[in-house]
Amino acid sequence: MPQDMTRPRGKFITFEGIDGAGKSTHIATVVDLLQRKGLEVVATREPGGTSLGEKLRELLLHEPMHLETEALLMFAARREHLAQVIEPALARGAWVVCDRFSDATYAYQGGGRGLDKAKFLALEGWVHGHLQPDLTFLFDLPPEVAGERIAKDGRDLDKFEREVVDFHLRVRQAYLERAASAPSRIAVINAGQPIESIKKEVEYYVVSRCL
Ligand code: TYD
Repeated sequence: MPQDMTRPRGKFITFEGIDGAGKSTHIATVVDLLQRKGLEVVATREPGGTSLGEKLRELLLHEPMHLETEALLMFAARREHLAQVIEPALARGAWVVCDRFSDATYAYQGGGRGLDKAKFLALEGWVHGHLQPDLTFLFDLPPEVAGERIAKDGRDLDKFEREVVDFHLRVRQAYLERAASAPSRIAVINAGQPIESIKKEVEYYVVSRCL
């Protein structure tokens, strides 16, 4: 879709963190904040966000597969998501709030699964070389604490949530390394704070870095 020249391009905000770090509540906070400013907001998620992407999500979260297939399908779902949802929304001036994006592939398939990150650089260049999030929140929490939160939910766990603590430790480490390499984009939030403090911090970053 060509860019709507009457409206500035929208901003792209992503949310990351290990499973159980509590990002969902704060995604709702950001959507609400932006809508109150009169902005059009598209809230979406990865893997998923399109009809094809949601089918791939079902497979990715529940079907055993080769680890490289998993990484490639993450990027395939992302390509579709960018083409169908993210790029058209940004072009028409909408803001896109996305639950996970490529940082998750670096953290889970790179850190967690141990795949070579150089391969993701090539895929990232192919799939969205021209586009990076304007702001990324990394909700950081020790895996032991996050695991307790998930256990309390009492719901069925997906493939990633069932992984051992060591896996989540590696995911967390990879996320933190990524944040250290892109401090102007990635804001690390201590997800162990009271919910109200997190909310204030999240709002501060959106207002000071994006609005
Ligand atoms: P998540 O977004 O946490 O959804 P929910 O809150 O409903 O559990 O779950 C998606 C899972 O997919 C999560 O465990 C991380 C994983 N994932 C990857 O491994 N790589 C990726 O590139 C993405 C986007 C997600």
